[in-house]
Amino acid sequence: MPTTIRRTRRLLLLLLFPLLALAAPPSAASRHDYGDALRKSILFFEGQRSGRLPPNQRVRWRHDSALHDGSGEGVDLTGGYYDAGDNVKFGFPMAFTATLLAWSVIDFGKSMGPELGNAISAVQWATDYLMKATSVPGVVYVQVGDAFRDHGCWERPEDMDTPRTTYKVDASRPGSDVAGETAAALAAASIVFRGRDPSYSARLLDRAISVFEFADRHRGAYSSSLRSAVCPFYCDFDGYQDELLWGAAWLHKASRRREYREYIKNNEHILGADDSINEFGWDNKHAGINVLISKEVLMGNAQYLESFKLNADNFICSLLPGIFHPQIQYSPGGLLFKVGGSNMQHVTSLSFLLLAYSNYLSHSNQHVPCGSHSASPSLLRRIAKSQVDYILGDNPMRMSYMVGYGSKYPMRIHHRASSIPSVGTHPAHIGCKAGSKYYLSPKPNPNLLVGAVVGGPNLSDAFPDSRPVFQQSEPTTYINAPLVGLFAFFWAHPGNV
Ligand SMILES: *[C@@H]1O[C@H](CO)[C@@H](O)[C@H](O)[C@H]1NC(C)=O
Repeated sequence: MPTTIRRTRRLLLLLLFPLLALAAPPSAASRHDYGDALRKSILFFEGQRSGRLPPNQRVRWRHDSALHDGSGEGVDLTGGYYDAGDNVKFGFPMAFTATLLAWSVIDFGKSMGPELGNAISAVQWATDYLMKATSVPGVVYVQVGDAFRDHGCWERPEDMDTPRTTYKVDASRPGSDVAGETAAALAAASIVFRGRDPSYSARLLDRAISVFEFADRHRGAYSSSLRSAVCPFYCDFDGYQDELLWGAAWLHKASRRREYREYIKNNEHILGADDSINEFGWDNKHAGINVLISKEVLMGNAQYLESFKLNADNFICSLLPGIFHPQIQYSPGGLLFKVGGSNMQHVTSLSFLLLAYSNYLSHSNQHVPCGSHSASPSLLRRIAKSQVDYILGDNPMRMSYMVGYGSKYPMRIHHRASSIPSVGTHPAHIGCKAGSKYYLSPKPNPNLLVGAVVGGPNLSDAFPDSRPVFQQSEPTTYINAPLVGLFAFFWAHPGNV
């Protein structure tokens, strides 16, 4: 049985072969249906839902699951998302997913047309859960499900009979990383709901404020406090400092309170704002912090935060094809690559930052200085678009990496619910080890998890479409969340790249 460890420690590997000088491909007339991709990228989140499914659930092969989560602790922790192809609810990546979905709606919601409502529902499915997980003051519930036991089975969520152990951080076992990210998610979502549901928005912001205060007052990494439960799955390798800055940045954006601005300025160096600036993912928020705060600088509101913009500029320069950087590569077919498992998470989150930054630059009429060159907003958009187009089929395999999009796509994704016959077609219980035959089967998955984007090809642009190769065949919520914003933009601006 597979043990899904999605994140391998960053290797200090200096790649010495020369980088192919890749120019962003010329923007041919768009052949992709970004509207279809947008719709599917959001639909995917319905397939990841835990808890009681609502009557308007569109992914009909999924059913209610994990209806007693939290009951052992006397709290209601039902709902939320399974983060990937397993049945554990990992709060750290779930909160990051919620933050990125909210950021997608904040920056690109006006481009979502009829999909806006579905995107907002996807945010709320996460934030309703995060509100439950933070309902006890001074406590954040950060995981439901024993990950080792879960990963020892290949079971549908509807059949799950592994221990639904709950894990929490509190004053004695702190977790500023997961709590800081949870505060960021709640603050970002409060912006999404501000004009749509003011009372929900106000509750989200109030909670974000108190969760951030807890995160900051009781400092520590949840992977120290809860090591045996959360590692090696979503172990925090990069420390909790970035999530404190990230939480403060979102709280500042949501509340406009001076105290968060001062927090950012006062803690900028203490919390290492200029560390690892070219990463952005569920573990490392640095590039996202710099891009988010740079918007204020570019709008002329915050010159005292200029150093964040310098970091953001350096980050953007490091992504330009043809510029050598030890931590960023492009495959021969043009896909951005970073060392570590599940490459597509880097592709989508870094592309999102390229696009968001290009818009902030456009609005203030600026370019990015990169040594003797300068990168225009339109170059950044073209690079982001080249990544999105690669995902949708412009690649050496001539396949889409999104399930259900185009004519050729992954058929054997590493996903328990998708790979085992549904409760509708096979009502009898399928136990822990009885699922092995579906895991090992060479046949395509019986349930299409439409919209799921997988870990993707390797550095040679090859993709085996094999369930056991989880680094390449597993979808995750944090691969899709930034794509929601990217697809919306390219759908609404077919010529503007
Ligand atoms: C990618 O996968 C293919 C096929 O499995 C293999 O031949 C190739 O060596 C792999 N490339 C890298 C860089 O691992």
